[in-house]
This record gives sequence, C-alpha cells and structure tokens, in this order.
Amino acid sequence: MNVDGVAYRSIWVNEDGWSVDIIDQTRLPHIFAVNNLQTLEQACTAIHDMQVRGAPLIGATAAYGLYLAMRDDPSDAALQGACKRLLATRPTAVNLHWALARVTEVLLPLAPAERSSAAFIEADKIIALDIETNHAIGAHGLELIRQIAAAKAPGEAVNILTHCNAGWLATVDWGTATAPMYQAHDAGIPIHVWVDETRPRNQGASLTTWELGHHGIAHSLIVDNLGGHLMQHGMVDLCLVGSDRTTRSGDVCNKIGTYLKALAAKDNNVPFYVCLPGSTIDWTSSDGVSEIPIERRADSEVSTISGKLDNGQVANVAIAPDATPVTNYAFDVTPARLVTGLITERGVFEASETSLARGFGRQCSDSAG
Ligand code: MRU
Repeated sequence: MNVDGVAYRSIWVNEDGWSVDIIDQTRLPHIFAVNNLQTLEQACTAIHDMQVRGAPLIGATAAYGLYLAMRDDPSDAALQGACKRLLATRPTAVNLHWALARVTEVLLPLAPAERSSAAFIEADKIIALDIETNHAIGAHGLELIRQIAAAKAPGEAVNILTHCNAGWLATVDWGTATAPMYQAHDAGIPIHVWVDETRPRNQGASLTTWELGHHGIAHSLIVDNLGGHLMQHGMVDLCLVGSDRTTRSGDVCNKIGTYLKALAAKDNNVPFYVCLPGSTIDWTSSDGVSEIPIERRADSEVSTISGKLDNGQVANVAIAPDATPVTNYAFDVTPARLVTGLITERGVFEASETSLARGFGRQCSDSAG
C-alpha cells in the first residue's frame, strides 16, 4: 500500500538481490526505518523483538530466515536447527509453523548445494501467495461493506471497528482486516474506521492509524474500552478483526481484547467478522481456549509506554509504581459462537468445522473415521 505516494510492502528483497529488507515496526509511527536482514539470527531477532509482527508477516519472515540460514550452512543439521530457532521466536501465530513446514518440505529432498536457492524461491512464492490471498479476502469483505452501505443514506459512511493491526504491516500487502477497507475506499464507498489503540503495545494507535492515514481512509483512534459504548449507540456497523490462529471449529485467537469486542458486538447485534488466510487455520486444534498456547510477554510492555516527547524525541516512560507486579497475555480466544463469519480467500464461512472443512476441501474430524 502507499506511504506518501510510494507503493510499499512490509518485506522485500534488497536491491543487492539476496538480502531481505523489512520496515522496522517498533519505530513507527514516528520514524520510518528499514532494516536489512542478512542472517538467520537477524531474522529471529526481527520476529522476536516485533520489528515484524502479525501472523502472515511472521510466516513470510521465517521463510526468508530459513533461506538466510541455508546460505550459511545448507546441511540437514543446520536446517533442523534453523527451524527450531525460528519456531521459538513467537508461539501463537500458526503461520510460522505453516511457512516453515512448507519450505522444509521443498528443501529436505534436495542436495545441500541446491537448498539456498530453492528456499529463496519458496519464500518468494509465500510472499506472492500472501498478497493474492489478502486481495481475495478484501474482495469478499468488500461485498459485505457494499451491502451495509446500500442500506444507508447516500454518502453516509459505513462505520467499521477494528482491533490491533491486521493491516498491510501485519501481512506482506493489503492486510487481512484492512483489505476490505482499502478496497471499499478505493471503490468509492465512504467508510470510517474506529481504531482501538490496543494496549499494551498500541499496534492500533501506532500502526493501523499510520496505515489508514497514509492511504487516505477516514478513521478515529479510540481507547480500547470505548467499543461497547459506540456499539450501544448504533455507531458501529461492522467489526473486522484479524486472527493469529483459528481452530478448525472456528474459535479465533487474536490480539488480547478481541474477545471483549466480540461479546459487546453480540450483545448489540453488530456483525463481528474475522478476516484470515487459510494458512492461519490450525486444523489440529478444535477448542481454542484449552488448546492454543498464549504468548506471555514482558512486564515492561504494560508498566511503561512509548511515545514522542514535546522535544520530538521518542521515549519510554513508566506509568505504574516501580516494581508493580504485572500480568501480560498477548492474545485471547473468541469462541466460534460469537463470530458472525470468517472472511477468507475462499469466501465467507460460518465459524464452524463443517463450514470450514467444506470451504477448504478437508474432511471433518468427526467424519474422518
Ligand atoms: O502481537 P502482534 O502484533 O504480532 O499481533 C498480531 C496481530 O497483529 C493481530 O492479532 C492481528 O489482528 C492478526 S495478524 C493479521
């Protein structure tokens, strides 16, 4: 998508033809910085430290991380070690597993000398697939927005609430939850987006607002607790969020606070849709609450906050007494019963095992024998 009129992706191959560039998301919105990755360790740090984040982009970066590892040492032992190292960077997003399994399957049968170029080609395919997938998610979501707009007075904006950043920065391009927004905007449908700030790391405040602003989409930043009030007052037509892992029965694991938005949406009859690529579906798990590992992150994410000072410097400041005990879970699970539908590249599905299995050509586990 556009940054000051220039089309960007969140990850790309450097003009040297081999190393990988990323936008350092820890520095946005105040500083636009590009980091160059040349080693497996640098790729791991980029994922672990959230210079790149969001389930699809984590998967894409991991694929390039494996390629960089193969440049240094293409042996079986190095391949295994690199996968282990990358898998340990972030536990919740399932695309990490998906991307590594996909690249490894290609590399294993090859002679070591062929592995680095094969990994590069496969990572490139993952990038292309992500863009195509998100574009398709956008096209399906656009139809929902179009229907809501048709029931409004001409020119009246469709109000969409989103949580965290499931935008192009969380993918390679388009985003998942934002893809329908970009396409609606580009199609001339007036929309306005309520952006949850998304404590503790404020991905909504620092990233989603940045993206939407640079693309010219009307939006308002809100505190995480405002959504329920807006819904009670008829100020939200639709919720669109992303997913870091969705079980085969349609339970959705997403950024902490998503569950509370879904509860409020249910109570107020606001449609609550989750936008996700098929690579985010974990076909091995069914009950999200008991089966999905939830990442716990540093206390400092909660007890401090980062922002720009009056003098223009970006700084971290404490917002609680020193040494206050903190609990910091990064994700929660929204049960399928609260989800109106799952918007995927293959269409919009009910959040249920039957519907997902049919849509993705899989057998239901209870009919698998
Ligand atoms: O912890 P993060 O920033 O990697 O969080 C992931 C997310 O951006 C969201 O949960 C998102 O909605 C799903 S990824 C498109």
